[in-house]
Amino acid sequence: MKKLKIASIPGDGIGREVVPAAEDVLHTVAEIHGGLSFEFTNFPYSCEYYLEHGEMIPEDGLERLKDFHAIFLGAVGNIKLVPDHISLWGLLIKLRREFEQVINIRPAKVLKGVQSTLLNPNDFDLMVVRENSEGEYSSVGGRMFKGEDEIAIQNSIFSRKGTERAMRYAFELAEKRKKHVTSATKSNGIYYSMPFWDEVFKEVSKDYPNIDADSQHIDALAAFFVTQPERFDVIVASNLFGDVLTDIGAGIMGSVGIAPAANINVNGKYPSMFESVHGSAPDIIGKGIANPIGQIWTAKMMLDYFDEEELGTLLLDIVESVTGDRILTPDLGGKSSTKEVTNEIISRLKKRT
Ligand code: NAI
Ligand code: MG
Repeated sequence: MKKLKIASIPGDGIGREVVPAAEDVLHTVAEIHGGLSFEFTNFPYSCEYYLEHGEMIPEDGLERLKDFHAIFLGAVGNIKLVPDHISLWGLLIKLRREFEQVINIRPAKVLKGVQSTLLNPNDFDLMVVRENSEGEYSSVGGRMFKGEDEIAIQNSIFSRKGTERAMRYAFELAEKRKKHVTSATKSNGIYYSMPFWDEVFKEVSKDYPNIDADSQHIDALAAFFVTQPERFDVIVASNLFGDVLTDIGAGIMGSVGIAPAANINVNGKYPSMFESVHGSAPDIIGKGIANPIGQIWTAKMMLDYFDEEELGTLLLDIVESVTGDRILTPDLGGKSSTKEVTNEIISRLKKRT
């Protein structure tokens, strides 16, 4: 029996609605497998937790989480309770950094029955590999003076290790896909870091002669994501570029509510963390209409990570059979609730056994 111990952090807002839904789906998937089980342990870390305890996660929180096989996270953030930079840096970014989850991968593809925001989307299916530990998202810099003379300096950090690691991850991933890697650069505008990024990309690409490698400036790349997303397979990007590109990816799929993500610890020292792309969606909390598919697709990425790719593929096929029959939440133009979509996925999964 393969027993997977998962630390579950629903977080804030609709995170608490979609995480239990995706857990139910995972239990069903485990039943189909027969030799697999999930044990979820719930952690209440959230903005409400902060109000009560003065911190997003207790001092020994990381210690409590570190021996789980993975972390399953909903969304963090509630600006009515805690400013975003405190809640996100206090939990999400803390976990990503301390647990050395140095790679963030986010797919975007056309799902059957889901109307893309593009008028005539070709059948795109791409994956962004985002460097997740350094780059533009650094806490190096400072602020000086007040008023008219005030200045803020924000430094970017690009290490050879971090840059190469993200690129190698992208090439390895492309081996299993359409064998094409695009590097997101901006070496025509950013003087030091991006020419360095390009050099490392050239060097790394030499080790993968069977993979097509090209570079695109981020501005043109962003436009191509909208006009010709089908030309991409794997895209490797710095922390900031990857963050923005993946929101475009979610946008062209049709809703941020269906976009999944994984934060991968590549050295095996700490658990990886699986979280949907969307936030806590304050405008729809408690209405029962949050789209659970982002979290369920995230669960599929967790299955892939645990070498259960066959089950992962089955799960996404079932999700597409449900969307294909236009059983959709309101963000995708449907009338179904979180529960209805989840239950339909579960019942179709059961029929497959
Ligand atoms: P958001 O993703 O929460 O919401 C943007 C829009 O998309 C809203 O109209 C929302 O209703 C809709 N939406 C999002 N997920 C949906 C779903 N599953 N089903 C249906 N509709 C969905 O982004 P926003 O409003 O910028 O941020 C709200 C809070 O979430 C903030 O505190 C922010 O910092 C936090 N946040 C947290 C993230 C995380 O934990 N990884 C990521 C993004 C934002
Ligand atoms: Mg984002």
